[in-house]
Amino acid sequence: MSAARKPARRSQQWFGRDGKQGFYYRSWLKGLGLPHEMFDGRPVIGICNTWSELTPCNSSFRELAEHVKRGVYEAGGFPLEFPVMSLGETQMRPTAMLFRNLASMDVEESIRANPIDGVVLLMGCDKTTPALLMGAASVDLPAIGVSGGPSLSGNWRGRPVGSGTGVIEMSEMVRAGTLTQEEFTEAEACMQRSKGSCMTMGTASTMASMVEALGMSLPENAAIPAVDSRRFRLAHLSGRRIVEMVREDLRMSKVLTREAFANAIRANAAIGGSTNAVIHLLAIAGRLGVPLTLEDWDAIGSRLPCLVNLKPSGEYLMEDFYYAGGLPAVLREISAHLDLDAMTVNGRSLGENIADAPCWNRDVIRPLDQPLRPEAGIAVLRGNLAPDGAVVKPSAASPHLLKHRGRAVVFEGIGDLKARIDDESLDIDEHSIMVLKHCGPRGYPGMAEVGNMPLPPKLLRRGVTDLVRISDARMSGTAYGTVVLHVSPEAAAGGPLALVREGDMIELDVPGRRLHLDVPEAELERRRAEWVPPPAPARGWSKLYVDHVQQAHLGADLDFLVGGSGDDVAGDSH
Ligand code: FES
Repeated sequence: MSAARKPARRSQQWFGRDGKQGFYYRSWLKGLGLPHEMFDGRPVIGICNTWSELTPCNSSFRELAEHVKRGVYEAGGFPLEFPVMSLGETQMRPTAMLFRNLASMDVEESIRANPIDGVVLLMGCDKTTPALLMGAASVDLPAIGVSGGPSLSGNWRGRPVGSGTGVIEMSEMVRAGTLTQEEFTEAEACMQRSKGSCMTMGTASTMASMVEALGMSLPENAAIPAVDSRRFRLAHLSGRRIVEMVREDLRMSKVLTREAFANAIRANAAIGGSTNAVIHLLAIAGRLGVPLTLEDWDAIGSRLPCLVNLKPSGEYLMEDFYYAGGLPAVLREISAHLDLDAMTVNGRSLGENIADAPCWNRDVIRPLDQPLRPEAGIAVLRGNLAPDGAVVKPSAASPHLLKHRGRAVVFEGIGDLKARIDDESLDIDEHSIMVLKHCGPRGYPGMAEVGNMPLPPKLLRRGVTDLVRISDARMSGTAYGTVVLHVSPEAAAGGPLALVREGDMIELDVPGRRLHLDVPEAELERRRAEWVPPPAPARGWSKLYVDHVQQAHLGADLDFLVGGSGDDVAGDSH
């Protein structure tokens, strides 16, 4: 083949060459023991692996990749596995979210730079899913997602314990004096009983459900437990399918349309999904140029009910969800609200995929007319405290607080909160509104999951279980409460949140979609003139991030990463 003519198969720009260049591209790979015919133009499938012992939720991915390879070989493809940065939600400081965009750059450039025709994205935990989708979307090759799956149900002393949700519940019991530290420690190993991601409907399970609802995975991807043999079968079938997708040139942009995002937003409401999905889907859409706004979350999804009875909104866990029928059963239940013509990676429409989906347990997956919670999607609030928006998840909130006026108890940052929250002299009662600043994208930096502030022990002892809490932070998908998040612009960017002072009155009106700081504009102007921006990081990734990160209502992607570069790369390696 001539070096000048561009071959139909992308990988042939590397492997289909004569002379010195072809030698370079093939010879070193032959060092893996590969026969020459592997370079004959068959689809080369990258397996993008986020395996890491520092991301325990993804620790089954070496085995998962082997099953993908079986499917790729079986379909006549050539699999090449490669690692990318992994993001362990529980280990990384200051927050894994600081590195989501960095990992997405790793994914994008690893795919672009290499002789890959299609890619299988092995993703799990909270941040590797959006990072891989964002990075792959910017290249826009055929791609299929394989989630790692949830861990087995937690169980401690005969009681179900949900990842994250159980930690929050039990830590409040320790602080209230109803659980000992020894009992709390014993529960650690009882909660995470196997490899896999959090088994509540937290962010990882939500994002795996988003992958499936977007049409980016085979059906059932969201819920099969990580250690279930059917998870490995799904990986095998995905490997087989990606080879066909390359032959069909079924690229990500053909699947991830605005209709697909709308389907995912509706699915998020029906599963009682995490608020983190808002930021991640906005960022993924931004990479593809799909018009999607924060308002769409409210307009498209907020009136739908929550049907899935899983923690933190309900009582069951992901294993129960899978046995009840998983996401296909939920999508079938809300099918009247979905765009059933949306294309999915298996080459069938969403409607075809879910047409016969059975439900085996109506207590876990409720019928549409007997929902767990009515109108459960994400509510988007606006007002002088959040000119660019804020979000709240009504299904995880206390109904009596959805419309509330209260006195602000202000914490200037996470350090201030931790230093004072256990102080018995803290001037706070059940009517107060807790306000936390400087936890947004620039402020933390990285927008940590600290928006569900712990309650003061003196209120916990009195049986108070929820307060209105407002911040520019995010919240773990496993958390719950009347928690207003993602206030935009954030305090560190000089947003009105920075101007709130102790004792100010705040009005939250979720039905009216309003968040109001009841302080005269002239007084706010005076405070604004006094405002001093916080110091910014001096070097490294944190500096690049803070210099370029967009606000939460835009998805918190870096400004120069919005859009894509495609798969065309000029220039040879030698
Ligand atoms: Fe990894 Fe929850 S910590 S999925």
